[in-house]
Amino acid sequence: MSEIAEQKVFSPPEEFKKNANVKSEEVYEEGKDYIKFWEKRAEEMIEWFKKWDKVLEVDEPYYKWFINGKLNASYNCLDRWIEKGKGDKIAYIWEGEDGEVRKYTYKQLYEEVNKFANALKSMGVKKGDIVSIYLPMIPELPIAMLACARIGAPHSVVFAGFSAEAFRQRVEDAGSKYVITCDGYYRRGKVLDHKSKTDSGIEGLDIKKVIVVKRAGNEINMKEGRDVWWHELMKDQPAECEPEEMDAEDLLFLMYTSGTTGKPKGVMHTTGGYMVGVATTMKWVFDVKEDDVYWCTADIGWITGHSYIVYGPLANGITSIIYEGAPDYPNKDRWWEIIEKYKVTILYTAPTAIRLAMKWGEEWIEKHDLSSLRLLGSVGEPINPEAWLWYYKVIGKERCPIVDTWWMTETGMHIIAPLPGVTKLKPGSATFPFPGIQAEVRDENGVCKPGEKGDLVITTPWPSMLRGLYNAHEKYVEEYWSKYGFGKFFTGDGAIIDEDGYFWLLGRLGDVLNVAGHRLGTAEVESALVSHEAVAESAVVGVPDEIKGQVPFAYVVLKQGFEPSEELKKELIKHVSTVIGPTARPADILFVEDLPKTRSGKIMRRILRNIAEGKEEVGDVTTLRNPEIVEDIKKAMTERKL
Ligand code: PRX
Repeated sequence: MSEIAEQKVFSPPEEFKKNANVKSEEVYEEGKDYIKFWEKRAEEMIEWFKKWDKVLEVDEPYYKWFINGKLNASYNCLDRWIEKGKGDKIAYIWEGEDGEVRKYTYKQLYEEVNKFANALKSMGVKKGDIVSIYLPMIPELPIAMLACARIGAPHSVVFAGFSAEAFRQRVEDAGSKYVITCDGYYRRGKVLDHKSKTDSGIEGLDIKKVIVVKRAGNEINMKEGRDVWWHELMKDQPAECEPEEMDAEDLLFLMYTSGTTGKPKGVMHTTGGYMVGVATTMKWVFDVKEDDVYWCTADIGWITGHSYIVYGPLANGITSIIYEGAPDYPNKDRWWEIIEKYKVTILYTAPTAIRLAMKWGEEWIEKHDLSSLRLLGSVGEPINPEAWLWYYKVIGKERCPIVDTWWMTETGMHIIAPLPGVTKLKPGSATFPFPGIQAEVRDENGVCKPGEKGDLVITTPWPSMLRGLYNAHEKYVEEYWSKYGFGKFFTGDGAIIDEDGYFWLLGRLGDVLNVAGHRLGTAEVESALVSHEAVAESAVVGVPDEIKGQVPFAYVVLKQGFEPSEELKKELIKHVSTVIGPTARPADILFVEDLPKTRSGKIMRRILRNIAEGKEEVGDVTTLRNPEIVEDIKKAMTERKL
């Protein structure tokens, strides 16, 4: 490792460069006229029923792309490949945790999607109705999404690992009347009962139909008149359903994500721009070719899965793997076994998974032939140079470029990422903005100098940008456009640009955590804690974690009549897990008498973060209303450690 650790810059291997989809830096030049650039990509990458009249229309802070263009996302993912004679090509290879394998050719996937689109129609789903999908990593999840897209019903997929309460919030906010779920699914050999969770999530809501996939065969309740089995519904459906002609600006989906308040926000993505953005980045950043076998290990319930398991790969007509289960089941080499078995050529995963694999040891990897790999990707959080180098050497055998892709739910597609046949890589840097995109690092005083830390801001509109937050105009303006004004999209991430123009991402600033690549608002965890009868007030901060990057740490003030205890601590941790989901579990809780607050009552999280990280210097306390509490909390923290 030592000699490559000393290497600062990694040029694309000659062989890779020769065959790459993008071979020359000229594309960056071309991207400077971003309107022309994206128009060209829209022509190349997507089939339109009707061409647009205008590429971009700006009504700040709203941006519309490909005005009056008509298309259908599912048509672009399925029909066009069949029309081009690729119907027998494998679209998805799905591997269940129990070893079951299902393969779908483009034709078979097309038929399932068409049948389910007809099934949705038969249930009364119409264009414009938002359908909530609460499914684990089974083929019915992309099938349901594409069927929704086919009939013009926007989907709102909720990660299956989320709690009933988190699901309820999202169904309610979207106003969904239709839910797609399953009986249960496998995780580390155990069956998780998903239907009961779904039922308690939607209790009391006005839901017309619940479609239930039979996955695990566990005993469940079906509510008469409301619940329908997927397989029964599919039985007599015709395998043809005319794709709805959608406007480029029609809503394709909602994806809820965490922000600075306790309430998740529904990020809106529309059809035309989103498809252009994900199809292009898929082709250029992942360099996908006809014979690639691509595997993204994310869950489809997050934006990464939407863009780079469903829409991006299918819009490029390639073959992808979907794996249902845990990376360490039945053994810690399950992923490497899958790569060897299917001869995966491109692997896209998260730094947290890489660090876990590092911890498990190379012996699990050495058992397998990973020579099919030619490109590696990383997403979700900053990748530390040590993990980058390990990934490069142990998984990629110093042969595969690594594309560290920075983006977020709101951007829909990669924003800062290398072009693997062009970009010289620096371990730990996501390198440069994608062609056609401009970004800067700035603060209140203006653009930062090289090496100076500031806010990452995107300064040009891009086609797959969010089109707002569902029913929350003011929040949209406040979160993204208030800090630096219209035209300068505030990402909420800190960054540095070095002397060579490379972008180094520093993670979220402020009140959002990134736990194992999953975004989580500190306010969400706080509101879960205060929903417990014992809790008067709480403050949650992120603390560094070797594997997960960050984990929540909670300070809790108890109500009168409740005493701190180990049992209560455990109960509160469990409570958070029930209210939000396991990702949100605080790593630890410290019971305190009060929280450090400014005179206006704002909790000084910076101080709490420093204390949680064990720092001696906690920062300026002079603006506090109750500076004495800081010493008390520090003491409680030290005693806790002893
Ligand atoms: O902090 C950044 C981090 O993940 C956040 C976005 O989270 P989410 O919307 O859930 O989407 C995750 C998948 C795109 C960003 O604000 N992030 C994502 N990718 C990277 C990253 N941080 C550093 N490097 C990355 N490659």
